[in-house]
Amino acid sequence: MEILHVSAECYPMAKAGGLADVVGALPKYQQHLGHIAKVVMPMHRTEFLYDNEWEVVHKGYFSMAHYNFDFTIIREKTNKLHFDLYCVDIHGLLDREKIYGYDDDTERFMAFQIAVTEWLSKWEHHPDVIHVHDHHAALVPFMMQQCFAYRHLARIPTILTIHNAQYQGWMGWDKVTYIPAWDTWKWGLLDWANTINPLACGIKCADKVSTVSPGYMNELMYAANGLENLFNYEKGKCSGILNGIDYSVWDPAIDTYILDNYSISDFEDGKALNKKKLCDDFGFDIQNPLFVFIGRLVNEKAADLLPQAFRIALEKAGGKCSFLVLGSGETAVEQALQQIQHNWIGFYNSQIGYNEKLSHQMYAGADFLLMPSRVEPCGLNQMYAMRYGTVPVVRSIGGLKDTVIDYGGENGYGICFNHASVDDIVYSIGRGRELYNNKITLAKVRKTMMMVNNSWETSARKYIDLYKSIYK
Ligand code: ADP
Ligand code: GLC
Repeated sequence: MEILHVSAECYPMAKAGGLADVVGALPKYQQHLGHIAKVVMPMHRTEFLYDNEWEVVHKGYFSMAHYNFDFTIIREKTNKLHFDLYCVDIHGLLDREKIYGYDDDTERFMAFQIAVTEWLSKWEHHPDVIHVHDHHAALVPFMMQQCFAYRHLARIPTILTIHNAQYQGWMGWDKVTYIPAWDTWKWGLLDWANTINPLACGIKCADKVSTVSPGYMNELMYAANGLENLFNYEKGKCSGILNGIDYSVWDPAIDTYILDNYSISDFEDGKALNKKKLCDDFGFDIQNPLFVFIGRLVNEKAADLLPQAFRIALEKAGGKCSFLVLGSGETAVEQALQQIQHNWIGFYNSQIGYNEKLSHQMYAGADFLLMPSRVEPCGLNQMYAMRYGTVPVVRSIGGLKDTVIDYGGENGYGICFNHASVDDIVYSIGRGRELYNNKITLAKVRKTMMMVNNSWETSARKYIDLYKSIYK
């Protein structure tokens, strides 16, 4: 089978979060299973773009309302990712440093999707499945089915994977002229609550809809940021497939970002050396348990609760624990996390920004990883933490509930709590300290979690089965 993934991000070309990790790994594992998987994404101006060789494979043009655009599709020449990576260059629109966060993101991602569909319509042969990810690519199935110029693509099966239903790509009906000529009787496919809603449109038009954990799929039926009725109506084509992690990138035995490589047989020494480096770099006492948070500083991740939780936890522990935060996002949360730094020198530190290398060092060197998420469709951090022998301390929701078992239960290895609240976080930090002081149980818990198999293999197969169910 030949699968084309359409996405805004793909690691290592461009990453803002877990979407990139998934789109950088799933195609690789689909190739291992004997299929041809390809990715097409916008040509963001990243280091990977400049460090690699590219060839032009297509040049075309399209109109978006009264604007005309030329576009170029380039392909990475050396098969570095073990699958074909294509980027869409639209001068002035897509060739920018950041992936998101511009005032004209609506126009940028609309243009990206039109260019991809236009390119597809010119292919001599067609992929067997088009797999679109999140709202930035969710209008592609609609365009393939309803735009007059692309209707010959309508027979190709499509699947939409929702990585996060909080973001839907809403745009006013005044932007409808951006979409290439389409059958306006079908306006209802674009509409949800009187706006154009690309994610809702994708759910209506794609042959199958998946999300990134079974638990989150269940939650979407009653908590989907306004799309609950739609999910209930389309239930029959929806399923949850748990994300995996890429063992060729996330493995403490071969990770080149960390100071000392280790595996399940020598994790105690390996983790101790990596912890020492982190503690030296951030001024912590190595004797104290080290709790870290890594992530986007947005409402869903509940990082806004951390300053208060850290204050109370430090008071309770009489200063006998350390906290390190790596993240970027909402300015108010960034500032709050930076301001408290001066109060607790030696116990708390933060790095505001994006730092891939430091994230690996934190998974390896920390004792505990905090994830108090309000919403967590899957979450990859907890799986990386487990792979690196770092105990996940998570709110039991979405994918976190599907992947972390509390160490109080049989074969458990994590610390789970129910509410995204300061109280629950503080209580769980307390449980973490207790576990840290019980070296025998801690070693057992670490061993158990390092043995859990979260590789992509099983889930990559599940996607192939899903494609087969719609293969025409
Ligand atoms: P989400 O996609 O919602 O952000 P995930 O848990 O699925 O959450 O994936 C987050 C990914 O982004 C992980 O690979 C994590 O290590 C990485 N990440 C998040 N914030 C940062 C940061 N500031 N620096 C480096 N890596 C980060
Ligand atoms: C989203 C979700 C996260 C998930 C990731 C990859 O960003 O917030 O939970 O792990 O996508 O699917």
